[in-house]
Order: sequence, then C-alpha cells, then structure tokens
Amino acid sequence: MADLQEGNIVIIGSGLIGRSWAMVFASGGFKVKLYDIVQEQVSTALVDIRRQMEELQKSEMLRGKLSVEEQLKLISGCSDLKTALEGALHIQECVPENLDIKQKIFSEIDLLIGDSTILGSSTSCLSPTSMFNGLKHVKNCIVAHPVNPPYFVPLVELVPHPQTELATVDRTYHLMKRIGQSPVKIMKETDGFVLNRLQYAVISEAWRLVQDGVISPRDVDIVMSEGLGMRYAFLGPLETAHLNADGFKSYCERYGEGINRVLTTFGSVPDFTGKTAEKIDTALWEDLPNKDEQLITRREWRNSCLSHLAKLKEKMKKN
Ligand code: NAI
Repeated sequence: MADLQEGNIVIIGSGLIGRSWAMVFASGGFKVKLYDIVQEQVSTALVDIRRQMEELQKSEMLRGKLSVEEQLKLISGCSDLKTALEGALHIQECVPENLDIKQKIFSEIDLLIGDSTILGSSTSCLSPTSMFNGLKHVKNCIVAHPVNPPYFVPLVELVPHPQTELATVDRTYHLMKRIGQSPVKIMKETDGFVLNRLQYAVISEAWRLVQDGVISPRDVDIVMSEGLGMRYAFLGPLETAHLNADGFKSYCERYGEGINRVLTTFGSVPDFTGKTAEKIDTALWEDLPNKDEQLITRREWRNSCLSHLAKLKEKMKKN
C-alpha cells in the first residue's frame, strides 16, 4: 500500500461533517479513528462511508491514490475516548454546534492528550476564545472550519486562539495541504470568520432585492450561478476587479465612485422572517409533494457538479 502517512487522525463526532473529514483524511493516506458519544453513530458512519466511497469509485470521483478497500482499512471506529486518542497526531472535533457540548469535550480531551497533538475544531461560528479559554493545551488548539461537503469543497478556514502557537497554525496548514484541502490563515478572531461574512453579505443583498420587488428569487440565483459565480470558482473578487481594469488601483479609480454610490443605497440588515422568507421558500420548491426527494436529488447533483468542478480546477492549474 503506497502513500501511507505517519500518526493517527481522530475524528470526534461521526455525523455529517465527521464522516466527510474521515473520508478526506483517509484519501490522503492517514489512519483515522472515528469516535462518537453514541456508539451506534460510529457503526452507521462506517457503513455510510463505505457506501459513499463505493459510489464515488463508480462515478470515478474517489479522491486520492488508494483504492476504496485501502482507504476503508484506514478508518476504524472507537467507543472509548481515551483509546481513540492514543497516538493522535491531529484531532478534528465535529460535535454539534453548541458551546457547552464543545467546551465539555475539549476539557475531557485536554486531560488525555500530550503536547504534540493538535486539537482542531470544525465549528462554523463559535469563537476560539469561547471554546479554548483555560485549556492546558490552548497553544495546540485551532479552529479548522470546513465547508460542506469538505470532500468536494476544499476550503478550510484556520482561526487561532490568541494563545495558539504559530507552530500549530503551520502544522495544521501543512496537514490540510497534504490531504488536498485549501487552507487559509485567518489572522485574528472575527465573528463569522471570513467565508460566512462574505456569504452573509451576498444573502442579505439577495434578500433585499427580492423584498423590494427588483428580481425574482430564481433569477437572483441565476445572476450568481451564470454570472458572478462563473468567475468566482476560479478568481476571488479582488483579482476579478484587478483583471477587469489595468490592476486593482486602476479599477478603484475607474469604478470606485460608482461602487460607493450603489453601496449607499443598500438597505438595513434583514431579519430573515415574514413574507420575504415565505416568497423565497415557495419559489425554491419545485414539486411540493416531493420535498424530500427534491433535496436528495439536488444535493446529489450539487455534489456531482462540485466534484467535476474540482477536476476542472485541477486541470486548469496544470495548464
Ligand atoms: P451532526 O449533528 O451531523 O453530528 C454531530 C455528531 O456529534 C453526532 O454524531 C453526535 O452523536 C456526536 N456527538 C454529540 N456529542 C458528542 C460528544 N460529546 N462526543 C462525541 N460525539 C458527540 O453535526 P454536523 O453537521 O456534522 O456538524 C458538526 C460540526 O461541524 C458543527 O460544529 C458544525 O457547525 C460544523 N460544520 C457543519 C457544517 C454543515 O454544513 N453541517 C459545515 C461546516 C462546519
């Protein structure tokens, strides 16, 4: 078996994100131990991971150089936290987004690990300070926030606690690179980190445009998927601007005044309730009696699109 990596990865919480992380780490050749407070969740996760990998293999979308069987052999379940943590190189916490639950599990882990283990959290929006304050191993703690589904979307936001050591950030950064993810280093804590701040800016303007009767919900999504999104899969907003003029400063000189004028017309922060929520929701269901089916079908289609896009991006990097 080629490409095996040293040290264990321990996944704490084997729900949606924990399973996806397990698959990503195994695809990179790491041994993965899956732990969950609910033993049944671990068994279900192992069955689900096999099913997902076999489907990925069929559609030629399995990541990494190892076969399905080789990757599956790397993943094992564990029902005892202490045993799971033995020999851990990196722990990736994936328990529910609840501060009390996170603090409790971190304080338990803190007593069981040594100085060389990194403790990463998948939290979407809890601050490192709120989760890691007071831990003995705070210098080893970091938020490593994935994007759902991490198997197909490679970004990982790395957010340190003020006492996190630089070596922890660097080790986590290199680990993520090694398994084929795309980490970014966020220099300091900020509510919503960066991805969600950008995402919320877009969602709130989409909401206001629908609320003000400027555009329909379906069409606002087309503006993104057939317009801005075409570029954003390859370039960020800053380089997009850079290329749309003779450099970023030239873009600001040409368009800054107009952008400023439009921005002053943006409305207040939406409360995300009421008629507009109703209107958007209604527009997005295609077939009311089959809501569950629509979600399953569209999620599968989304995953397939993302996987093809990942391949295209890889190919474009090499060209
Ligand atoms: P989930 O609800 O699917 O899974 C959570 C798992 O944690 C369950 O299997 C549960 O039994 C287990 N668990 C609960 N308490 C535990 C404990 N004390 N010790 C060990 N296991 C425990 O949740 P999901 O969606 O996987 O989210 C996990 C984390 O990932 C959250 O912090 C979430 O914010 C973050 N995240 C979620 C994304 C998403 O789209 N679902 C995207 C990015 C991050």
